[in-house]
Amino acid sequence: MKASIYSDKRFPIGEIDRRIYGSFVEHLGRAVYGGIYDPDHPCADDMGFRTDVIDLVKKLGVPVVRYPGGNFVSGYRWEDGTGKQEERPRQLELAWQTIEPNTVGIDEFQEWTKRAETELMLAVNLGTRGVEDAKNFIEYCNFPGGTQYSDLRRKNGFEKPFGVKYWCLGNEMDGPWQIGHKTAQEYGRLAAETAKVMKLVDPSIELVVCGSSNSEMKTFISWEETVLDHTYEYVDYISLHNYYGNRDNNTEEYLACSLDMDQFIKTVVAICDVVKHRKRSTKTMYLSFDEWNVWFHSNEQDKKIEKWTVAPPQLEDIYNLEDALVVGCLLITLLRHADRVKMACLAQLVNVIAPIMTETGGRSWVQTIFYPFMHTSQFGRGVSLQTVVKCDTYETDKYGNAPYVEAITIANEESRELTVFAVNRSLDDEVELDIDITGYGELEIIEHIIMNSDDLKAYNTADNPNRVMPETKTPSDEIILPKHSWNVIRYKY
Ligand code: AHR
Repeated sequence: MKASIYSDKRFPIGEIDRRIYGSFVEHLGRAVYGGIYDPDHPCADDMGFRTDVIDLVKKLGVPVVRYPGGNFVSGYRWEDGTGKQEERPRQLELAWQTIEPNTVGIDEFQEWTKRAETELMLAVNLGTRGVEDAKNFIEYCNFPGGTQYSDLRRKNGFEKPFGVKYWCLGNEMDGPWQIGHKTAQEYGRLAAETAKVMKLVDPSIELVVCGSSNSEMKTFISWEETVLDHTYEYVDYISLHNYYGNRDNNTEEYLACSLDMDQFIKTVVAICDVVKHRKRSTKTMYLSFDEWNVWFHSNEQDKKIEKWTVAPPQLEDIYNLEDALVVGCLLITLLRHADRVKMACLAQLVNVIAPIMTETGGRSWVQTIFYPFMHTSQFGRGVSLQTVVKCDTYETDKYGNAPYVEAITIANEESRELTVFAVNRSLDDEVELDIDITGYGELEIIEHIIMNSDDLKAYNTADNPNRVMPETKTPSDEIILPKHSWNVIRYKY
């Protein structure tokens, strides 16, 4: 099959915000306990954090990490995770029906983010709590001193404020499963007042208001409109969440699911702009796609997990090659909306629907989805260019016509490099790709990285950690995208 792509320096989409390569650590399953924190592990540092995991997080390239939830945050008392570790209460964790020992809390996690060379994005509890508690939490984290909660932080050993810049106003408050679930009216008012108060404590923060939990929610669209009507002046981003899965074992259909993400983003942008014009506002609302990934493999096994234990192995999806191709298509989609999507979080980071896996007390390894994320985080910096793809298409049931090739061109003026990220969705044919990029003079190919395998269901394990991984092809001007493959084609200009 033949295909061609065209990009032109004169037609940029927008500057890529580094924060689109964010991720997420929730107090859920073995993400924290046995994942990032494992004090008896041979690689544990002085605070009990696993340095092998920290090294993998650095390799992945994650500028921002959202914490501590997720559904977990809607019943969370942040102060339970501060002060002397041995005196912290064990709590019933209702969202995931476990026991939360509170050994790790904000005091420890903010230190972990420094060690992992990333930045914190915090969520406040708007499920069981509200305005006053959000004020106390930001006072603890960001106020210099001389008040009850800032002095509590200093007493706990942290003289300097944590300086947390990004805050989420609750989590998935439209979802009936959420602790303290609210209507759009109830949530919109609460979010507006909470935002107002938090910005009184620290005007330099940026706030994310909850959009819909996914594009299938019955309240999707009306939720966004109502919530933005209440909060437009006070917040900076609206969130989007979505998870995908090959539930019917129909790979062609599954590989096209990024078309749903594309439509979801376009719709939310449209709603933001409707509210903007209705309010005669000059402010543009940006998008924070702060939960996205593949999540379905572990659904059945999770039903069998014993309740009320500490750190059970929940949501431990094992990802294969086709999942990595989907993650690649989703990343390309986020890059295609670089003008409006300014933050995004791959949910999650370690053990729980994650690119990085560990054995508690044992080995760590990376899953297939690690690689497209690492490549885009590393090479997808600079400006995203409009990319016209001419290729054959195929019919899908849910998403209409899907192109066999999903691609985007990125220009990095600093390194004078152009990178094309491309997925070949065809299960049968390789694609001979003609790349035509105008405005950068002579291009010299640096490398063509390819990830594929004969077996779409192949995955990595602790015993066989390199079963699926990328390879670099000898550079050539003839670009062939093998069938069902992830590709990174890099040029110098
Ligand atoms: O990431 C797992 C869960 O998915 C989060 O806790 C929740 O926000 C979403 O439903």
